[in-house]
Amino acid sequence: MYHEKLKPFPKDFLWGASTSAYQVEGAYNEDGKGLSVQDVAKHPEGTSDFNVTSDFYHHYKEDVKLFAEMGFKAFRFSIAWTRILPNGTGEINQKGIDFYNNLINELLSYNIEPIVTMYHFDLPYELEKKGGWSNRETIDAFENYSKVLFESFGDRVKYWLTINEQNMMILFGAVLGTVGEDGQDPAKKLYQQNHHMLLAQAKAMKLCHAMCPNCKIGPAPNISSIYPATSKPEDILAASNFSSIRNWLYLDAAVFGRYNSVAWSYMEKRGCAPIIEAGDMDILKGTNPDFIAFNYYSTMTVAANNETGANDKSKADQQRAFKEAGVFEGAANTNLEKTQFGWEIDPIGFRNTLREINERYNLPLIVTENGLGAYDTVEENDTINDDYRIDYLRKHVEQAQLGITDGVKLFGYCPWSAIDLVSTHEGCKKRYGFIYVNRDESDLKDLRRIKKKSFYWYKKVISSNGEDLAE
Ligand code: BG6
Repeated sequence: MYHEKLKPFPKDFLWGASTSAYQVEGAYNEDGKGLSVQDVAKHPEGTSDFNVTSDFYHHYKEDVKLFAEMGFKAFRFSIAWTRILPNGTGEINQKGIDFYNNLINELLSYNIEPIVTMYHFDLPYELEKKGGWSNRETIDAFENYSKVLFESFGDRVKYWLTINEQNMMILFGAVLGTVGEDGQDPAKKLYQQNHHMLLAQAKAMKLCHAMCPNCKIGPAPNISSIYPATSKPEDILAASNFSSIRNWLYLDAAVFGRYNSVAWSYMEKRGCAPIIEAGDMDILKGTNPDFIAFNYYSTMTVAANNETGANDKSKADQQRAFKEAGVFEGAANTNLEKTQFGWEIDPIGFRNTLREINERYNLPLIVTENGLGAYDTVEENDTINDDYRIDYLRKHVEQAQLGITDGVKLFGYCPWSAIDLVSTHEGCKKRYGFIYVNRDESDLKDLRRIKKKSFYWYKKVISSNGEDLAE
């Protein structure tokens, strides 16, 4: 749809950016922090571990000052469960509470709204050893952890996100380091874990509303429009299958409190439908999320697949589809350009995705990740000319405004990432930030912060409330 006149971004629009604890904080074993599954995960050869990352734990004041200079209205970050409860349950680590209190207060002193993800891929290792999300006790552990968070920070943190990209943990857990190597394609186990996470999320949302009536809470999956590879009805059906399995399974449960019917029939066909205990469906109902947060990097394209053989996830990651025999198979979209890391770039797909979520759920939306992972080079006089990142972000901001004009209730945009950090599986050479961190995979150098060209560009975007997108 072509609009003669665009609606402006709302006056109090939450411009900001995002990070996650294990990818940015470092200090993985300091001040009483327990180990998470990420701290013990194997790293692909030649990529950094998560021990120091960008050392935000020790640089947060300097970094928040830079965020304020960019004009951030919001900063989305995650709390490391293991800083608060080193064993996942039991004793509270006061130093962990202190760190996040200091960070939140620092942000508020610059009028930056903290947006907190409660759990971003870093399950406490002590819980993992007891079965992790396969163990129903982890549901109670998460509820207890969320209670500690609301008690400690609910007076100042208004926006809460439950679980980051639960759908990616289920579909691509091996890549994200969130499932062990104890079984290839352990679908039965994964969808049972998924059910437990849905229950944990529902309990946390209800608790939030009960404990902090002034707070708002919502889920934070990764959502993408799914395209059929051709207009063949079989491909269109495959796209609908994958959309239910990848997207709507998670949001239907979070918003409507029920399982998506196509996703359920897929799980039955695969023999991996979860065991639902008495009372579970009542827990899922009536959570009333206040908004939907979602991460968007690109769309995905799929074709029909009528085989009965094995599935192939070997080339898959968050943005690269795979083959599910008899359900769909990933296809390349030749209309789209790709990033240096092979992810397709689809700004118009962003508008489509916004519209799809809006039409299906009719809730306020906030984008909590969107961005370009690229190799950056420091040139003369400490300059980093990341025009490619500006180009990517500009096109997505344009589409966000078109989405708003289409009627989407978008109230914030927090791209990935505020500052360079370590990618989930491709090291720190895959950079996303507005601020460069001077280190490489094996050499921590001086961890100096350097403003990239995109830093100055985003500052202008924010100060003009999205009107000035020029370089
Ligand atoms: C999202 C995650 O999947 O994508 C982030 O929430 C992640 O944690 C981001 O870093 C980009 O993915 P990657 O694999 O390039 O780090």
